[in-house]
Amino acid sequence: MKIFLIFVSILTEIANGKTNWTRINDVCGVSHGDRIIGGTKAALGQYPWVAHIGLLKQERNDHKLSYECGGSLIHPKFVISAAHCVYGLGNNERVATIKLGEHNLETDIDCEGNHCADPPQVFYPERIYVPREYNDTKLKHDIALIELDEPANFTRYVLPVCLPSGDMIKNDLMSMMVEITGWGYFDIDDPVSSSILNVVRLPVVEIEKCKEIKQLSVYEFSKGQMCVGGIKGKDSCNGDSGGPLVKAMSMDNYGPRYILFGLVSVGVPSCGKFSLPAVYTNVSHYLPWIYDVIN
Ligand SMILES: *[C@@H]1O[C@H](CO)[C@@H](O)[C@H](O)[C@H]1NC(C)=O
Ligand SMILES: *[C@@H]1O[C@H](CO)[C@@H](O)[C@H](O)[C@H]1NC(C)=O
Ligand SMILES: *[C@@H]1O[C@H](CO)[C@@H](O)[C@H](O)[C@H]1NC(C)=O
Ligand SMILES: *[C@@H]1O[C@H](CO)[C@@H](O)[C@H](O)[C@H]1NC(C)=O
Repeated sequence: MKIFLIFVSILTEIANGKTNWTRINDVCGVSHGDRIIGGTKAALGQYPWVAHIGLLKQERNDHKLSYECGGSLIHPKFVISAAHCVYGLGNNERVATIKLGEHNLETDIDCEGNHCADPPQVFYPERIYVPREYNDTKLKHDIALIELDEPANFTRYVLPVCLPSGDMIKNDLMSMMVEITGWGYFDIDDPVSSSILNVVRLPVVEIEKCKEIKQLSVYEFSKGQMCVGGIKGKDSCNGDSGGPLVKAMSMDNYGPRYILFGLVSVGVPSCGKFSLPAVYTNVSHYLPWIYDVIN
């Protein structure tokens, strides 16, 4: 299958377009998980926008599907992720599938107590959009949009997350707690990916805290990034890349909703072991680019 890769320059102004965002805002950011389950595991349906992105690696006569990245549904036809997850991959590697409504990777039908979710919805990438200015050596503009081959059906377990709007666009969330979800390693001393979606709660810290980290000094930092974490034992890690950083906030006319503020971009290989923060893409900064691609 051929996937079209499209480069779109970063814009500074939001374009008017034909997507009816009112219809998306009517349903976005709604969580159906009861929060009785504590600890690191997400409840079934708690983060219904989380996408699981599968990469196909071709090795001689063998195909291997691996899941190393996450994403978020923001529109019936678009999943947002990190550019490094979908672009500049190995020669024999490509984005193959996008799963929505996934919770436990080991079961076909995910259940909790006596209620079960619908089977995951599986999509193929139709087009992949990356900012023309993306540079993997600097890990700047680490954002990508994947256009799905057909629109997702919104259900209790598959819903888009809200994008920042109004006053929240300028909010830098400094010192606030945010939620990061993924199937990556959650115990660095036992680095196997988790089969159940995990959530970690961490504070947003000054970008200087990330600039100080030696292993990250090769990267260039800008307003397009945010620095999050710095709590020993808690971090996003391998397998969480591209996945969502959200915060519940009150949205005009809608009450509290989950808003997508960040995308997991880069951290140190030891993850949460040494209480170092990690770098996330600042979604607010890229809204004009996102609207330009989708519209
Ligand atoms: C957008 O959708 C909303 C809610 O479904 C509807 O009330 C409104 O008329 C639509 N706007 C346009 C321009 O189609
Ligand atoms: C969405 O629902 C339609 C109608 O039931 C169905 O044909 C389609 O396959 C569904 N799409 C996905 C991705 O499950
Ligand atoms: C990315 O940045 C590096 C280091 O500054 C530079 O050498 C390279 O040409 C850049 N690549 C692109 C595609 O701009
Ligand atoms: C993210 O981008 C927005 C919009 O450009 C900006 O107002 C905000 O301060 C940025 N956040 C951080 C942590 O730099």
